[in-house]
Amino acid sequence: MSVRRGLAVLALGLIATDAVADDATVKRLYDRCEGCHSPDRNRTGPMLGGLFGRSAGGVKDFDYSAAMASLTFQWDEQSLSRFLENPQAVAPGNKMEFRGIDNAAERRELIEHLRRLLR
Ligand code: HEC
Repeated sequence: MSVRRGLAVLALGLIATDAVADDATVKRLYDRCEGCHSPDRNRTGPMLGGLFGRSAGGVKDFDYSAAMASLTFQWDEQSLSRFLENPQAVAPGNKMEFRGIDNAAERRELIEHLRRLLR
């Protein structure tokens, strides 16, 4: 393979792995969160306002499961991405009825959306 062709293949590969989720996809994902969460009050799930930098299981007046209450990290992009990929893997037995988001680009875009929304 020529160097030029090799570079073209490499560039295509980079584009493919850096795929972005479109706004409609992010909205559809966030709509699902909103079925249970609000930024400013507890509902089925704890309020999400102030999430970034907050201790996991840390909203004082929310009745967390033991699984969630025993977590010892703080929420940031990385911990949130791991949790949203597979909530049951991060906190086995937690009561958030959400299977998870497999697609890494979708998780990243959703988390960026949450960052803007919950500052
Ligand atoms: C079917 C309801 C439901 C849906 C849908 C849902 N959640 Fe949850 N979520 C919960 C519940 C309930 C908890 C608390 C779990 C526990 O205590 O075991 C929770 C916990 C969380 C936590 C931990 C908060 C903390 O204070 O530590 C985060 C972060 C979170 N959810 C984000 C999301 C996001 C983002 C979405 C959308 C992609 C989402 N959730 C979708 C019900 C839901």
